[in-house]
Amino acid sequence: MTSSDRNGSVALVTGGTGGIGMETARGLARDGASVIVAGLDPERGARAAQDLRNSAGHDRVHAVPADVTRLDGMRRLAAEVAGRYDRLDVLVNNVGVNPPERQVTADGVEKMFAAHVLAPFTLTHLLLPLLQRAPAARVVNLTGGIPGGPIDTGDLQGERRYLGWTFSHYNHTKTMTMAMTCRLAEALRGSSGVTANVVYPGHGHTPMNRVTPIRAFPILYRPVAPLVLKVVAPLFLSDLTRSARSSVYAATSAELDGVSGVYVDDRCRRKPMPASALDPGAQEAVWELCARLAGGLSG
Ligand SMILES: NC(=O)c1ccc[n+]([C@@H]2O[C@H](COP(=O)([O-])OP(=O)(O)OC[C@H]3O[C@@H](n4cnc5c(N)ncnc54)[C@H](OP(=O)(O)O)[C@@H]3O)[C@@H](O)[C@H]2O)c1
Repeated sequence: MTSSDRNGSVALVTGGTGGIGMETARGLARDGASVIVAGLDPERGARAAQDLRNSAGHDRVHAVPADVTRLDGMRRLAAEVAGRYDRLDVLVNNVGVNPPERQVTADGVEKMFAAHVLAPFTLTHLLLPLLQRAPAARVVNLTGGIPGGPIDTGDLQGERRYLGWTFSHYNHTKTMTMAMTCRLAEALRGSSGVTANVVYPGHGHTPMNRVTPIRAFPILYRPVAPLVLKVVAPLFLSDLTRSARSSVYAATSAELDGVSGVYVDDRCRRKPMPASALDPGAQEAVWELCARLAGGLSG
């Protein structure tokens, strides 16, 4: 699809009012798409939308405040998108969170599972009628950390293990994002014309990383963590355009026309999905939990 073809296309980027998501939105808007960015804070959202409109050179960028870790937030967001547009070409499920201690949302769901796994599942299902109206819609889900470790089907919401020597629930949920996306790609295959893939963004010095407390680092790294956060990251990781490259690529590149269920790394190269994400038992456990928590949305 060329840039001029995309003038009619519509994209939603969750967490598109800051960090990597905002640079992803910038790339899509500059490419001609109408873009909705969702974030928590209405004022930050309004400022981000103005900034994105300025750099895109058109006024088709809007911010919608919505907490995508909450079911009612996602329902309101989906209704807002449907109220504005009759189709959705790109859904980038970008929101990521990394609380140092286990948190549960008001819906009773562990927060990282809610943001990284349940939100992409639920938003895709809520927005499926709009996605199906686009000629070839794409869902892009973000992984992160060090994904690829085992999926503990007995502890999907990190009740037993949250932070640890070699294990972190952040990585665990990002592996689950991959497993859920594989299963989603399978569910969408055939009739819908919608594809779903996972990308690894480049590392970036973003709001999430700036407030990472030292105790969220594995013990071995803690002595050097302050240096990394205060000196190394701002020096080397401030160019978020690079961090957003893989999301923009997965959302727009002709190389991924009709391609679904694949993993794209931070240099936009296709890489094998980790074995744990391909495990049918793990995929089913993650899918079933999402379907139950989302109130039977999987159809
Ligand atoms: N940064 C990295 O180095 C890195 C590396 C690998 C993977 N990743 C992944 O890349 C993605 C983006 O990361 P990032 O570092 O750019 O994150 P970030 O800096 O925390 O993203 C900030 C954006 O997310 C929004 N947001 C936060 N919680 C939200 C919620 N519950 N509902 C809706 N919007 C919410 C913020 O809105 P407000 O400003 O209104 O709060 C803002 O728009 C995540 O999935 C992350 O796991 C990041």
